[in-house]
Amino acid sequence: MRIYKVGGAVRDRLLGKPVTDIDWVVVGATTEEMLAKGFRPVGVDFPVFLHPKSGEEYALARTERKSGRGYGGFTFHASPEVTLEEDLIRRDLTINAMAEDDQQNLTDPYHGQRDLEARLLRHVSPAFAEDPLRVLRVARFAARYATLGFTVAPETLELMRQLSESNELEALTPERSWKEISRALMEDQPQVFVEVLRACGALKVLMPEVDALFGVPQPPAHHPEIDTGAHTLSVLQQAAIHKQPLTVRWACLLHDLGKGLTPEQEWPRHIAHEFKGLKLIKAVNERFKVPRDCQELALLVGEYHTHGHRAHELKPSTLLELLQSFDVFRRPQRFEEFIAACEMDARGRKGLEEKSYPQADYLRGAATAARNVAVQPLLEQGFKGPELGEAIKRERLKALKTYKEKA
Ligand code: CTP
Repeated sequence: MRIYKVGGAVRDRLLGKPVTDIDWVVVGATTEEMLAKGFRPVGVDFPVFLHPKSGEEYALARTERKSGRGYGGFTFHASPEVTLEEDLIRRDLTINAMAEDDQQNLTDPYHGQRDLEARLLRHVSPAFAEDPLRVLRVARFAARYATLGFTVAPETLELMRQLSESNELEALTPERSWKEISRALMEDQPQVFVEVLRACGALKVLMPEVDALFGVPQPPAHHPEIDTGAHTLSVLQQAAIHKQPLTVRWACLLHDLGKGLTPEQEWPRHIAHEFKGLKLIKAVNERFKVPRDCQELALLVGEYHTHGHRAHELKPSTLLELLQSFDVFRRPQRFEEFIAACEMDARGRKGLEEKSYPQADYLRGAATAARNVAVQPLLEQGFKGPELGEAIKRERLKALKTYKEKA
C-alpha cells in the first residue's frame, strides 16, 4: 500500500500557507488491510478511515460515477487497482488534485502547480459536475485566495454556469450549503464569494433576494455607489476588514433585502424597506437552516439599521424601545453586534469607508445609561410584579432623557 498526502494540505504548503488538517489517500489497499492496521472506519458513504494515533483521515483511492441527482446520487468504486491518477481526476480543482509522498515528491498529473503559479481556479475534468456543491466551493476558494490574485478560469465559470442553470443546485442540502456559505463569509474577501456566485448565475438560484439588489439604485446623496448590490458587497468587505464575526457578516449580507422589493417608480427611495425586507430575511434564514444567533441578528439588523444611523435623532422613548427589542439588559453582546453591523453599513459606501461613526458610541452610552438604572431602590419603595416593570421603564426613560440632553 502506498500513502499520499492530498488536497488542501499539498496546495497550502505550496502556497506557503499554514496547513491545518491533512487528508491522505491510500493506494493499493483493501478495507480489510486498513482495519488490520488499526484504522477506524468512519465513512458511511465512502471507504474513509481515521488513523489510530493522529486521527487524520485516510481514504482509499476511489473513482466516482454519478448515478442520480444531488449529493447521494453517485456510486463509487474503491479497490486496490484504482490508481492515484484515477483518484485525483475526480477531484474539484487542479490545485486540489495534487498528491505528495513522504519524500515530498509531487504527483501532479493535471497541472495544479502550473495553475497555482497562474493563480487560476480551474476544474480538473468534467467530473467536476458530479458534485454541485463545488460551485460554492470554487466561489469560497475565490474569496479566500483573491488577495493572492486568484481568479476562476473562464471554462470553469462556464461549467459552474451550466450547473446553476440545470436544477442541480436545488438538490443541495441546507446543511452542506450553509457550511460553505458560512466558511466563505469568514474568508478575507467574502464579497468575492457573492460576486463569483453571481457571475455564474448561482446567486439567482441560491439567494434570489440578494441577486435582486443588483441594478437597484439608491439616493446618490447618501449612497455615492448608488447600486444596492454594490453597496451590499462593500458592507461585507468592510465587515471582513474589521474582522467581524459570522453573525455580523450574515446580517450585513441581508440587511437591505427589502430594497429589492421597491417598485421602480419609487426608486431611488426605499420607504419602509427595513420592515418589508423581514420576510425575505426570514426566507433566506430558513432556506439554509441558519444557526439561531445569525438568524436573529440578521432580522434585528434588517429592521433597525436605520434607527442605528439616526441614533442621535431618536426620542428617548424610541431609544428605549430599540434597547428593549435587543433585550440589551440580558444580551449586551447582541447589541454590540448590531452596532457593528450598522457601522459596517455606513462604511460600506463609496468614498465613506474611513468616515467616523459617532452613532456607535452614542448607542453604547445609551445602553449603559439605561442599564445603570438601579432596581434595588424601586424594590425598597415596594414596587412588585408588573408595577415594578413599569417603574423600571420610567426610570430608564428618565435616564435616557438625561443622557440625550448631555450628549
Ligand atoms: N474534494 C472535492 N470535491 C468536494 C470536496 C472535496 O474534490 N466537493 C476534494 C478536493 O481534492 C479537496 C479534498 O477533497 O482538496 C479535501 O476536501 P476538503 O477537506 O473539504 O477541502 P480542502 O481542499 O482541504 O480545503 P479547505 O482548506 O477549505 O479545508
